[in-house]
Amino acid sequence: MASLLSKVMFGASFVLAGTQLAGCDSTPEEGSLDITPIPSEVVWQKGSFRLSASDKLYIDAPEEDRAILGAYMQASPLKLQLADEKTADQGIVLRQVKTLEGITSPEGYVLRSNSKGVQIEALSGAGLFYGLQSLLQMADDGESIPAVEIKDEPRFNYRGMMLDVSRHFFSKEFVKKQIDILAYYKINRLHLHLTDAAGWRIEIKKYPRLTEFAAWRPSAVWKPWWFGDRKYCEQNDPRAKGGFYTQDDIREIVAYAAQHYITVIPEIEMPGHSEEVTTAYPELSCTNEPYKQGSFCVGNEKTFEFLENVLLEVMELFPSKYIHIGGDEAGKGAWKVCPKCQARMKKEGLKNVEELQSYLIKRMERFLNEHDRNLLGWDEILEGGLAPNATVMSWRGTEGGLKAIHAGHHAIMTPGEFCYLDAYQDAPSSQPEAIGGYRTLEKVYSYNPIPDSLTIEERRLMHGVQGNLWTEYVPTPEHAEYMLYPRMIAIAEVAWSKQENRSWPDFKERALNIVEELKQKGYHPFDLKNQIGDREESKAPIQHLALNKKVRYVAAAWSNYPANGEATLTDGIRGNWTYQDKCWQAFISKKGVDVIIDLEKEMDVKSIGADFMQASGADVFMPGKIIISVSADDKEYTQLAEIDNKVSRDGGIAFKNFGWEGKTKARYVHYQALPSKELGGVLFVDEIVVK
Ligand code: ACM
Repeated sequence: MASLLSKVMFGASFVLAGTQLAGCDSTPEEGSLDITPIPSEVVWQKGSFRLSASDKLYIDAPEEDRAILGAYMQASPLKLQLADEKTADQGIVLRQVKTLEGITSPEGYVLRSNSKGVQIEALSGAGLFYGLQSLLQMADDGESIPAVEIKDEPRFNYRGMMLDVSRHFFSKEFVKKQIDILAYYKINRLHLHLTDAAGWRIEIKKYPRLTEFAAWRPSAVWKPWWFGDRKYCEQNDPRAKGGFYTQDDIREIVAYAAQHYITVIPEIEMPGHSEEVTTAYPELSCTNEPYKQGSFCVGNEKTFEFLENVLLEVMELFPSKYIHIGGDEAGKGAWKVCPKCQARMKKEGLKNVEELQSYLIKRMERFLNEHDRNLLGWDEILEGGLAPNATVMSWRGTEGGLKAIHAGHHAIMTPGEFCYLDAYQDAPSSQPEAIGGYRTLEKVYSYNPIPDSLTIEERRLMHGVQGNLWTEYVPTPEHAEYMLYPRMIAIAEVAWSKQENRSWPDFKERALNIVEELKQKGYHPFDLKNQIGDREESKAPIQHLALNKKVRYVAAAWSNYPANGEATLTDGIRGNWTYQDKCWQAFISKKGVDVIIDLEKEMDVKSIGADFMQASGADVFMPGKIIISVSADDKEYTQLAEIDNKVSRDGGIAFKNFGWEGKTKARYVHYQALPSKELGGVLFVDEIVVK
């Protein structure tokens, strides 16, 4: 259990009753209030409420909420029986009220407990539900509830998790199991990435080929399929792997989520990430050929007919106000040469293919708005002009979301750096292969979605935050849970709790317990207590002969990952487990790394070397050839080493040093590393170490 002290140390709004009531006979229970996400305000009282089998639950709320909350609590570990009216002064009372002092959010609640019972008040059923989650967490010993007054409400209205069910399909039972946990930690949106090249996952009655064919492939696992022939197969093919949700399955998931006050948001990708559709229905692509185009033809009216018909069925199934239309990473090459797309651009006065994409998004937004729904899309929907009412989901950093907010739109923040849960959460060599990147629980927890630069008005447009689990490298349900937890719980606290109440050491302590609880409940979380942590080399700067010496770039570094600019390779700072940590410098040209370091005077040199990083999922590879030379005058160079290296796509993240050792004198050090002929890709180096 997290110590109470650690909770009250940082939160101005926490009142340390132990101090206030100094001398009184309080409170062994004080240390056991252990609520995640951490509530807005807790005031300790004296005593506690002893739970007993005869406790009753009385709910004063509209019928629909009463039914949901009653059923939920009867099934909960407390197994409370419903009372028709408040007959006893002993028990748990939930009351929906019209106003509640200190609470403005419909999802907020006030919980008061004393020796007689527990009263939860809220402005809505959702608020009562969240009060109950806090109660369940407080009662997890099954014996007593400490006397407290909690006032709690969320920082953000939108607290989401995204699950990619295209790259690997996850059963409705799995989805429902995750809903149980998400609700327990006050998450209120589940975004399902239902369609992508790897498989279409929702039954659409009007387009049966989507699920007879585009939902199946002859490989259960995404990686060999994606790096192989990427062919789909018929559902009745004995090799078929994959699946889809029937419309009844969707209704079941949506209803189950609603009973947990979670809205399910469907994502139907357009105009890109749609190879499975343009293969099942090739007439929707620019070239009318299967397996050729990842994007819909925007010049073709049939595309709009298809998308609208799909969305009609989708809207029938999902009551969510938001419908996510993807919009990310669309290949636009075919549009440039497609007569229909060109004709559309001419007719509509569109200057470029970005505006053509924007034409599609705006048209789909009009369609959704006509059906009383709002469009949500990845931040690429900003390109070519944002649709008038759209909400932006910011993933390529925070800029897209902030830009949308500055333009008066809502934004949901899910920047890869903090919110993508498909990255490694510990030293890669200790982990199952992941797509790349290194995102510890601490890193996820450190995210604050609201930068100081936003005005009060703009802050209102920040709708919330979401954790995303992409599943290219996540083939099984156990593995998905392993990637989700406990990092998704960190997202829950980022999304719910006040920034000033959050503290990493306190959260970590709670997270260690949550991991154990999740295991007991049959989940498969990451083993936080045995975490290895950061790359040893990255923990302290390194001293060497080239430290802070000038580097001449014969071939330029890649500006996408400049790290510390021209100081990177000699600043003494070594990289961590990810090339995204701004300590690794990237080289993407055919020349790879080609740099000359000036040591300023001739020195005795015993070794020259550099570490490279491979992340094959991201096309980051080891070099194929390394050449190291030295010179006294920068004119005549003596070659010290020429190393040939066999590069393979196998494995996930790897680190390797390529260097020379011996005895020489040098003023200039020329280090070259060429990409391999077979795989090419990007090279990443953190430091050229000369000793
Ligand atoms: C995304 O990660 N392509 C939204």
